This record gives sequence, C-alpha cells and structure tokens, in this order.
Amino acid sequence: MESPFLWTVCQVGAEPALKREIAREHPELKFAYSRPGFVTFKAPTALAPDFELHSVFARAYGISIGKTRDPGEIAKYAATLPAHLTHVFERDQYFPGDEPPDFVRGRWAEPARAALLGPTSHPASQPSLVRGSAAVRPTDGDLVLDVIAVEPQEWWFGLHTHSDSRSADPGGRPEIPMPAEAPSRAYIKLEEALRRTGAPLTAGQVAVEIGSAPGGASFALLERGLTVIGIDPGEMAPAVLRHPRFKHIALPVARVARETLPERVDWLLLDMNVAPSVSLFSVDRLAHRLLGERGGLQGLLLTVKLNEWQLADEIPAMLEHVRAIGFREAYATQLAHQRQEILIYATSAVAPPLSSRARTSRAHRSRG
Ligand SMILES: C[S@@+](CC[C@H](N)C(=O)[O-])C[C@H]1O[C@@H](n2cnc3c(N)ncnc32)[C@H](O)[C@@H]1O
Repeated sequence: MESPFLWTVCQVGAEPALKREIAREHPELKFAYSRPGFVTFKAPTALAPDFELHSVFARAYGISIGKTRDPGEIAKYAATLPAHLTHVFERDQYFPGDEPPDFVRGRWAEPARAALLGPTSHPASQPSLVRGSAAVRPTDGDLVLDVIAVEPQEWWFGLHTHSDSRSADPGGRPEIPMPAEAPSRAYIKLEEALRRTGAPLTAGQVAVEIGSAPGGASFALLERGLTVIGIDPGEMAPAVLRHPRFKHIALPVARVARETLPERVDWLLLDMNVAPSVSLFSVDRLAHRLLGERGGLQGLLLTVKLNEWQLADEIPAMLEHVRAIGFREAYATQLAHQRQEILIYATSAVAPPLSSRARTSRAHRSRG
C-alpha cells in the first residue's frame, strides 16, 4: 500500500521546528495538517511504508492511509492489512513534564486498543499489540500498522516498515519505569537515550558526566556497572555520592584540568543547563585529550538545550562541530522524555560503527 501523505509525531511545541526541518531536508514534502504533537505532510507522488524521513524532531512517522471516528471500524480495517504488528498510541497532548496531575497517558488510545485486544485496566501497559507475528517488538522489515489517537474520538491509520533507523516503541515513546531511589528524571532520559542509540555501554567502563547533579543519569550508569566521574558544582544525591564507583568533582567544568581526569575514559556525557555553544566548547576542550590513542573514548552523549527553538536551525552546524572535534559519526534526535532539548550521539573511531539509523540522514548526521 502507498500514500502521498506522511504522518509524524513529535513533542508538543516542536511542530514549527519539525516543519522547518522538513522544508530544509525534504523540500518536496509540503505541510498538510497539524495538531499539537502531530504533523502531516503531502508528497508529490505516493510513498511506500519504508520511506525514510531525515528528521531530528519526528519521533515516529509513516504513511497515512485513513482515519475513523468509529472504534468499531478499527478491527475491521486492521484485518484487511498485511501488518505484522500494530502500534496503538496517542499524540502528545502536553509539553513533557507539564501533564496535569490527573493525566493518564493512553486514555485516548484505549478504545482502539480495546477494539483490537479487548479491554484492559492498565492502558499504558500494553502499548504494542501483536498480530500475526511472534515478536512483540518489530524487527527489521516488519510492517507496522499505526493506530494514532489524534483526538479523543478520532483515530488515524498509518503504516511504516520497521528498520533500525526508527524507534521500535509505539509512537517513539518507550515506557521506562523510574526506580524509587533514582535521584532525578534524568535517569529516564539517559535510559531512553541508550535504548534509542544502542550505545554499547558496558560494566567496567569509565564515564565522565558533566552536569551530573543531582544524579539521575549517574545513578543509571552506576546501575549498569560503570565507574562514574561526575563534574558539577551542585550537590549530588547521597545514593550516588556514597557509591564506591562514583567520584564527584564539585567544580564548574571550566575549572577542571584535563589532566585530572583518568587516563582512560570510555564515555563522555554532558547535560548542562547552558547555551549550546558553551556545552560544545566544554566537549571540545575535554574530548580532545580523551579521544587520543591512550584515551580510547568511544562516544559522546550530549544533551543540547534549545533555549530558543530557533537554535534548532543550527543542529547541522552543531553536528559538524562535534565531528570536527574528532568524532567519526554524529547524529541528533529528540527523545520522548526530553524537554526543549535534543540528544547528540557521537562515536569515535574506536567504537563500533553506528547502525544504518544514522547512516540515512543528511540532516541529523555528519560523517568524517
Ligand atoms: C539538567 S541538570 C543535570 C541533571 C543531571 N544530569 C542528573 O542526572 O540529575 C544541569 C546541571 O548542570 C550543572 N551545570 C551548569 N553549569 C555547569 C558548569 N559550568 N559546570 C558543571 N556543571 C554545570 C548544574 O549545576 C546542574 O546540576
């Protein structure tokens, strides 16, 4: 099946940045329709479900093939399609973190889910439905039917072919439980980043995290068995501070001498609430030594705050800067749990090459 229409889902507030990005990277795609967190485009010719979009802000996308206001139609329509898997989800309704206390994610999607699977008391616990396949998560080449609740009683049908350039989670939103002891929601952001990028962090490696307080990300790294050096003048949570594999350097990063870091660092992480140019300057200063032959740095996980959405236009230049520092490959994406920020993931020559996820895009990727 083909369609000239393309649906995308993104963070609430990111729609203008997404539209500008698509105008730049895919000038043939014309904006068609939008709701908060949901934007469609029209192509001059029909697109197949395996169409690859070059986008930082579209968390998930596919061809748009119809819509209904009648939940009774959903199962009937789904039965006519050769999809391996169905993803049922709703568009974002609030800026991440601004959801009201009574908000339950999955309420809008629930009638569609019930039509396909039967009712459940835990809407969010079954985001991914399986039909005609043993796999719960799509694997390369699987055709996925997307049933997207765009309004409380309006469901859009989409199709996409899964590949490793895409998130395997419905609507690009993984469900990541937050452990009670994790000091901040940065725990979830880092876990999502690792899941999305496939960054090969393993026990026994050493990570330096710049902007580590209060310690959600450090907590995730320690849980995974890494040794962590956290740089932040702010206070670290006791659960992190007392961990035998954690060392706190309680200084602004500009006052940390390169030679005080260990000889060998495998991963550099940065999550400072400062302008992108300041973050990139800090990476530039520290990564230089860590990337050397003795340093053996494998990669960078850099959170870039887009304090103004206009900064989104500079993402290609930021990726060029990261590559100029000495990283081999770099790409950018916006995660479901990030606020007005993006993730830049870069790997060095000593890391395994990035998957084809990063290889497809001119927009969010840069290679030396
Ligand atoms: C978003 S918070 C980091 C959250 C943290 N990654 C976590 O996992 O909980 C941003 C942090 O950047 C730190 N920061 C800001 N400027 C800094 C600088 N010049 N050097 C080091 N840390 C800085 C702040 O103190 C703040 O703790």
